Formats: sequence, C-alpha cells, structure tokens
Amino acid sequence: MSELEGDFDSFAVDPKHYAPLRCFCCGKHGSRSEQEVNRLVREYSSGRHKGSVFRVTVDGRKRIVGVAAFLAAAPSQPMLGQFTGSPYISVIGLSERYRGRGKGGLRLGDLVLLDALRAITKSWGGAPHTFALVDPNNRASRNLFERNGFRMIIRANRNSHEADSLFRRIGVQSPVGSLGGVSMPLVTPSETGTNAGARAQ
Ligand SMILES: CC(C)(COP(=O)(O)OP(=O)(O)OC[C@H]1O[C@@H](n2cnc3c(N)ncnc32)[C@H](O)[C@@H]1OP(=O)(O)O)[C@@H](O)C(=O)NCCC(=O)NCCS
Repeated sequence: MSELEGDFDSFAVDPKHYAPLRCFCCGKHGSRSEQEVNRLVREYSSGRHKGSVFRVTVDGRKRIVGVAAFLAAAPSQPMLGQFTGSPYISVIGLSERYRGRGKGGLRLGDLVLLDALRAITKSWGGAPHTFALVDPNNRASRNLFERNGFRMIIRANRNSHEADSLFRRIGVQSPVGSLGGVSMPLVTPSETGTNAGARAQ
C-alpha cells in the first residue's frame, strides 16, 4: 500500500450540483460492486436518491479521493425494514486512482468511512447502530467494514436476487435509547468491538 502525503478535505455536497462527481469511477474491472457504486453515484449526481447525506473527500487539487452517502433506513428497503430510522451507508467508494493507497497509516477507504461515521454521529446526536449492505465476496469492502467494527448480522440469501449481506456496527446509545422514533437497546462501548470503531466517535 503506497502512502500519500498532502492535505485531504471531507465535506457534504449536493451531488446534483457537484460537477466532479459526474466523472467518478471507482473501477472498471467489472466487479458487481464497482458497477453498482458507479451507477449509484451517477444516479445521485442526476438528482435521484434525495434525502441522503452525500460526502466527498478530496485531495489538495480538489480531485475526488472517495465518496460516501448515508440516510435513515426505510421500511421499504430490503433487509433494513426492522431497522427503520437507523443510519444506513448506501454508498462508499474510492476513485480508481486512489485504490490501494493509504495516508497516515490508514487505508483511504478507512478515511472515507470514518468521515461518514463522524457525520452520522453528528447528525444523529450520538453514535447510533449503523448499517451497510455488503457483498460478502467483495473482499476490499468487507475488510473495510470489518476493520471498522461492522459485523455481518444477516447473511445474503443465495436463493434470492439479494447478493448483499447486512452488516451492523453497534453504536453507543444515549440513555433515552431512541433515534428517529425507533427504540434501540442500550449497549456499552465494549460491545462496539474494535479500537478502530472508537476512533470514529
Ligand atoms: C470498498 C473500498 C472503498 C475499500 O477501500 P480500501 O479499504 O482503501 O481498499 P482498496 O480498494 O484501496 O484496496 C483493497 C485491495 O484492492 C486492491 N486494488 C487496488 N486497486 C484496485 C482496483 N483498481 N481494482 C481492484 N482492486 C484494487 C488493492 O491493491 C488492495 O489489495 P490488498 O488488500 O492486497 O492491499 C474500495 O475497495 C472501493 O472503492 N471499492 C469499489 C467500490 C465498492 O466495492 N464499494 C463498496 C460497496 S459495499
């Protein structure tokens, strides 16, 4: 993994009006996840998927390093219905030129995910349980989420069209235990599993 220097910046954008997104590409090697992420980013930049927070990380020349989007899970979303109101990371990807690179001892995927987790903590007013749908055969993505405290809770059903498994990162709930109108169990920080998880608080 080659290390990069220089400053990066991360911020929320309106994807419809952020022109650099139109040429975003996380890879053209044909993996299902790459195609899916490229398609989703195109859809976000054409104004679909309203109601999400869309964040970009850029390098010193304002080139996109990576993107991440999150939103509150809705009853209509496959596998997520029972977690309605909890944050769900709907997109994460690095620009192809930034794949396989690191910065300050972290992979760039970690920087993008940790930025999204920080933004989720801010939006939800605490560190809520956070979800992501991940293709378990997508090694890079699965490793990224597992390094950062996510664990598979619902396995992909091979007999359906759903190729993704549901991963959850346990949050640290406030005593009220309610976010977005949904009651959630209280957990202790030790249940979050990893040090990397703590970094995102
Ligand atoms: C998921 C993702 C953000 C993780 O980022 P990361 O943890 O920094 O990992 P990278 O992709 O940079 O590197 C992972 C491995 O892929 C390799 N790789 C580098 N460039 C690559 C490319 N263009 N295509 C495929 N693999 C590549 C890396 O060398 C690395 O190998 P290693 O583990 O042996 O070192 C990133 O892999 C990505 O953008 N993938 C495409 C989109 C995607 O699958 N998103 C997740 C959907 S749930």
